[in-house]
Amino acid sequence: MELNTIACMDCLEYLRQLPDDSVDLVVTDPPYNISRKQDLVYGGRRIRKDFGDWDYNFDPVPVMKEIKRVLKPTGQIYVFCSTEQIPIYMRIFQEAWFFRNLLVWSKTNPPPRLSKTNWVFANEYIVYAVNEKVKLNKVTFNFPGQRAMKNLFITPILTGAERLRSPEGGSVHPTQKPLAVLKRLIEVSSKPGDVDVVLDLFMGVGSTAVAAAQLGRRFLGCRGQGYPPLSGL
Ligand SMILES: C[S@@+](CC[C@H](N)C(=O)[O-])C[C@H]1O[C@@H](n2cnc3c(N)ncnc32)[C@H](O)[C@@H]1O
Repeated sequence: MELNTIACMDCLEYLRQLPDDSVDLVVTDPPYNISRKQDLVYGGRRIRKDFGDWDYNFDPVPVMKEIKRVLKPTGQIYVFCSTEQIPIYMRIFQEAWFFRNLLVWSKTNPPPRLSKTNWVFANEYIVYAVNEKVKLNKVTFNFPGQRAMKNLFITPILTGAERLRSPEGGSVHPTQKPLAVLKRLIEVSSKPGDVDVVLDLFMGVGSTAVAAAQLGRRFLGCRGQGYPPLSGL
């Protein structure tokens, strides 16, 4: 696979073309399986509940198995997930990987819950692991200091300038992750220059690639079927 490009294909098909132990860091945002076919209508307002067909019945198990194969033993992984998916990823990482932490992305402006029948979901989660139980002095940690080491990122959800637009038609992605959060993960867990390769199998609008490129890291990945490939970010 050519470095610094984003392919357009199914993630498993893409992963099977990557050699063993070829990636240093995975930062990825698979489907949360939270879509519902029917929008919510409350007080005359329509709230979108369907992000797309891709957000139904996603099975993380085969994808995580392939990621484990392509990641170096000292390689690190960050997986964004929903509240309901935390136990799934925790089990995968605790059984076969080196589970390290659960990070929280806390939103200052979460979507409201107009019905007032539950707490508002203001957090998303990032499960963090190293591929194998290696000595930690072999693993890349570029922590600048204690203050920057909290497993908590507090940012707004994207509403304005930080929304990336895909080159074809300039559309935005309904679940784009903040560049600020992606950049913190990549900066801490990979080396700049022609050293490390950062992989994302669920690039969406390409945010992981943009974050990696802005930090001078090489990247690889795919963005699902039905999109043209992206390069030259
Ligand atoms: C949660 S979104 C990722 C958004 C991305 N982090 C961003 O900031 O734009 C998941 C993405 O994975 C894509 N996708 C879903 N199933 C896929 C598959 N089997 N292979 C590759 N991509 C897939 C969807 O089209 C969607 O864009």
